[in-house]
Amino acid sequence: MIKTLSFDDVLLTPQYSNIKTRAEVNTETDLGKGIILQLPLISSPMDTISEQDMATTMRRAGGIAVVHRYNTIQRQVEIVSDVIKGTYPSNIGAAIGASADYLERADALYSAGVNLLCIDIAHGHHALMESALTTLKNKYNDSIHIMAGNVATLEGFNALADWGADSIRVGIGGGSICSTRLQTGHGVSTFQSVLDCATSDRDAKLIADGGIRNSGDIVKALAAGADAVMVGSLLAGSSDTPGAIHCAKDGKEYKLYRGMASKNAQLDWRGKSSSPEGISTTIPYKGETEVVLRDIHGGIKSGFSYSGSRNLLELRTKCQFNEQTSAGQSESFTHILRRG
Ligand code: XMP
Repeated sequence: MIKTLSFDDVLLTPQYSNIKTRAEVNTETDLGKGIILQLPLISSPMDTISEQDMATTMRRAGGIAVVHRYNTIQRQVEIVSDVIKGTYPSNIGAAIGASADYLERADALYSAGVNLLCIDIAHGHHALMESALTTLKNKYNDSIHIMAGNVATLEGFNALADWGADSIRVGIGGGSICSTRLQTGHGVSTFQSVLDCATSDRDAKLIADGGIRNSGDIVKALAAGADAVMVGSLLAGSSDTPGAIHCAKDGKEYKLYRGMASKNAQLDWRGKSSSPEGISTTIPYKGETEVVLRDIHGGIKSGFSYSGSRNLLELRTKCQFNEQTSAGQSESFTHILRRG
């Protein structure tokens, strides 16, 4: 039996630091093919997370959005064109599948000017992915960044890299709205998958995806070897997510957040649902996305400084993980309200 570690099982051991302010910390990451992010954050290709408002705000904050594919090709092109208009060159990604209309969709998005195409399928270590990746690589050569996923293992990571992926989403079943592990019995803790895939000798960049709940998890993922982190729930409920704010009877405001394999999402985009592997929920309204991102960025920079690191390379070199006991985990969460 293989033992795996989750984000909560580990902490980073504080290191000597001579960093005086967060301004000295540079969180830049280079994903290749001209995609350089000042904030190593990517918003998920989900219909309650990434459309034009999120893409604009992510780009401004130094990250990048991957616009979801649960729409017509025409609608997805309208969304990306709206973001690119005036702000070219612009960091913007868009998702495609690995079958059906994916080639036509890829062509339309490529012509619209996206600089990242994301082949977005739940089980990426798959023959369909091999076919889609090799086809797109032959077609576009190196003229566009191709992200692919998701995978949970080093074997999966290496396969997608060998099939031509420039970056690979790592994490299966760990997302806040995922029920894949319950439904199928399959998955690996996202933190462990990142640790494993980071040992790859391939050049592809590693994107940690699923189950990242706070800036602490982001710092742990980056230290463990991720080049950037993809998030859904961290941004869910903020102003620039698609959809209206709902007001409940108690006056509190909410926004919808749902897994793309949830019954609710499947009914909306396919008209029918089978074996849902995600859930749909509401999130208390969080306010401006820009402010949420600023807080996340501040937390990441603070995390770098606790490891005495001014940049990602230093973080990777200097970081030391320690494993927590369950008593340590209780101590790590705010616990004054549990006393007594
Ligand atoms: P977080 O934890 O950031 O996770 O909310 C977002 C990631 O979850 C994945 N995703 C799903 N996984 N069923 C799943 O098993 C789903 O319905 C689903 N929808 C999204 C995806 O990788 C996303 O980035």
